[in-house]
Amino acid sequence: MSHYIGIDIGTSGTKSLLIDSQGNILAEASSSYEVQSPKPLWTEQHPDLWWQATVKTVRSVVKQGRIKPASVKAIGLSGQMHGSVFLDKKGQVIRPALLWNDQRTSAQCDEITTRAGGRAELIRMVANPALTGFTAPKILWLRSQEPKNFARLAHVLLPKDEIRRRLTGELATDASDASGMLLLNVVERKWSTELLSKLELDASLLAPVYESEQLTGSLLPEVAKHLGLTTDCQVVAGAGDCAAGAVGNGIVRKGLLTASLGTSGVMFIHSDQPQYDATGRLHTFCHAVHGKWHMMGVTLSAAGSLQWFMENVCKELAARRGGDPYQMLNAEADKVEAGSDGLLFLPYLAGERTPHADPLARGAFIGLTAAHQRGHLARAVMEGVAMSLRESLEIFKELEVPIREMRVSGGGAKSSLWKQIMADVMNQPACTMNAEQGPAFGVALLAATGCGEFKNIEEACKATIEVTHKTTPERGAVKRYDRSFEIYRSLYGVLRETYQKIGNLQ
Ligand code: XUL
Repeated sequence: MSHYIGIDIGTSGTKSLLIDSQGNILAEASSSYEVQSPKPLWTEQHPDLWWQATVKTVRSVVKQGRIKPASVKAIGLSGQMHGSVFLDKKGQVIRPALLWNDQRTSAQCDEITTRAGGRAELIRMVANPALTGFTAPKILWLRSQEPKNFARLAHVLLPKDEIRRRLTGELATDASDASGMLLLNVVERKWSTELLSKLELDASLLAPVYESEQLTGSLLPEVAKHLGLTTDCQVVAGAGDCAAGAVGNGIVRKGLLTASLGTSGVMFIHSDQPQYDATGRLHTFCHAVHGKWHMMGVTLSAAGSLQWFMENVCKELAARRGGDPYQMLNAEADKVEAGSDGLLFLPYLAGERTPHADPLARGAFIGLTAAHQRGHLARAVMEGVAMSLRESLEIFKELEVPIREMRVSGGGAKSSLWKQIMADVMNQPACTMNAEQGPAFGVALLAATGCGEFKNIEEACKATIEVTHKTTPERGAVKRYDRSFEIYRSLYGVLRETYQKIGNLQ
């Protein structure tokens, strides 16, 4: 029997899992770490944290699985997208990586748009507008703000690709993750030499681009030994966590949409052709399905908003022994009616991407009265995140993208209340799957596919993933949320100038 490992280098931790050749999950392990925020709106992590967590969790799944080391034929890598690992020519990490939710690069986004010849030209070259979280503006930030570091720069890798380098010694990336660097010609699935030359960036900074199931190298001898594996173990290209999570949910065919409630929230739809939102509100990226694409909208603080609420407003729940604090909070929120008695929450705790692309946007509770209790606030947080994700759904509808089924995933999908809120706010059944492991499972399947266990990733998903539960929308709640959504939608416009004024204070 052959085995495969999927590794997901997340923002709050790394998760590894072991599957057999039929896709059955045999072992899982995770290890968490912190995000550093040296200044407001900045987020950073040192790649050593990811590496230590990778080693720990891989060793753990190999041990738990009680398998022969040689039976592990391949590893698939997934990770937080857009992060910038800056390396010098000796392979030393120059400084901590800037992460996907870092908001320091507004000036560099303007610079990229200008150098490209305007927003429409930029979208023509790389399918997307310049957003603060993407990687290219981070490289320009290093060039203008830390010129000494920039002078040492030899390679820029994405988080999972830095782990690949440490596993195999190879520099490589995959088309889905590369799309989020804002340097890929997404239609042709290769680096945009046109944009690179306009930005005066050398193509040698970037790694070769592969399709997700392709083999990119095998484990280095000392690494294989340390992990309890062999040098015959291959590493496939893998995918950015959004595409990998979509594969892990079986979103590999037209009409399937996944709404994921992780630290960030993602509305992700498969597409057979590259399809754009001409105004650039959605991202158009390559999919982890060979030769296919996807569109997605991102809410920067989704389950991250509830985590913030738990850690800062519900400290005693978080500290209580026995019982899951999130379940306790859910029980309080469940007692409140849909609409939280007129309380609305804007989840812009780290600025916002879709549809506003505004790093200065801030979170807010609006409509607070003395009658509101903690349960109302918790429910309003879940509702606000769902409404933010609905903004992406409305754009999909506007672009007439067909939607046959919505699958809900990520940590937030464990809450049946949040699932019901999603079904009601979107007015779509919210389906959950037998596979709940998301990105790590998706790339484990890609690893198995790359070694020939399945004809392609579509077949792998068909063989292993099925809908196990459907939460249907409740009519009364749908109507109520439709009315709240109209108010929710108007709030950003009302507050935009205020956000700018607050930004100017700092
Ligand atoms: C996607 C994005 C986030 C990160 C989180 O564009 O920025 O979903 O990938 O891990």
